[in-house]
Amino acid sequence: MKIGVFGTGSVGSAIATALVANGHHVMMGSRSAGSERAVAWRDKTGTNAAEGSFADAASFGEIIFLCLNGAFVLDVLASIPAMDLHDKIIIDVTNPLDFSAGMPPRILPAFQTVSLGEQVQAAVPGAYVVKALNTLNYKLMVDARLVNEGDHNIFICGNDTVAKERVKDLLVENFHWRADNLLDLGDIRTAHCTEAIVPFWVLVMQSYHTPLFNFKVVH
Ligand SMILES: NC(=O)c1ccc[n+]([C@@H]2O[C@H](COP(=O)([O-])OP(=O)(O)OC[C@H]3O[C@@H](n4cnc5c(N)ncnc54)[C@H](OP(=O)(O)O)[C@@H]3O)[C@@H](O)[C@H]2O)c1
Repeated sequence: MKIGVFGTGSVGSAIATALVANGHHVMMGSRSAGSERAVAWRDKTGTNAAEGSFADAASFGEIIFLCLNGAFVLDVLASIPAMDLHDKIIIDVTNPLDFSAGMPPRILPAFQTVSLGEQVQAAVPGAYVVKALNTLNYKLMVDARLVNEGDHNIFICGNDTVAKERVKDLLVENFHWRADNLLDLGDIRTAHCTEAIVPFWVLVMQSYHTPLFNFKVVH
């Protein structure tokens, strides 16, 4: 499959690398084609790896991963022709965090009432936005086996049931997630709750002194 990954940071690199390792063709997007980090990633990753602008990655990908600094996601989406995202699944891994008052972060004021996930869906109404993977560390996103033998949860939010099932399949097939650990919370409005849990995740990380842990729902 051809997949566009918006983002050259830790998350974008981990996701793009894991997807190439699973046989997908991946284009990493950044603010301008030829960015140092994207070119370095492409050169070390091999023939199925490409890089370009965000718009290039949008038109390349059948599925898009959003792995951007949360403060700039809406600006980036506004810069992309709507047709390049039309009918595509956008997996939104981002969080709208404000570190200006120290740790743990707060939610940026613009996203306290209406979540970033909801605002992403409103910005690209022709796409199927699925919020996922935003509640854990990037290493664990792409290899669930790293803690508790892969037995822990992530949360899936989105308006379209078929799109959510496709995302679940992708996570199971590529990132070692167990299907029954992928909890569908409902429509994209529920992203408000999964974004809000991230400052709490940071507190736990500070307490555990490691980012390699996750939430497990028991009942
Ligand atoms: N780190 C984790 O383990 C983790 C876990 C869960 C969720 N997340 C979320 O995943 C997202 C990505 O995190 P990250 O740590 O990998 O990277 P990041 O540093 O938050 O974001 C890097 C990306 O943001 C883009 N960016 C930065 N400033 C921009 C601007 N002014 N305009 C447009 N784009 C801009 C960069 O573009 P260029 O490539 O052009 O520089 C780059 O591609 C964040 O929303 C974060 O909250 C992170």
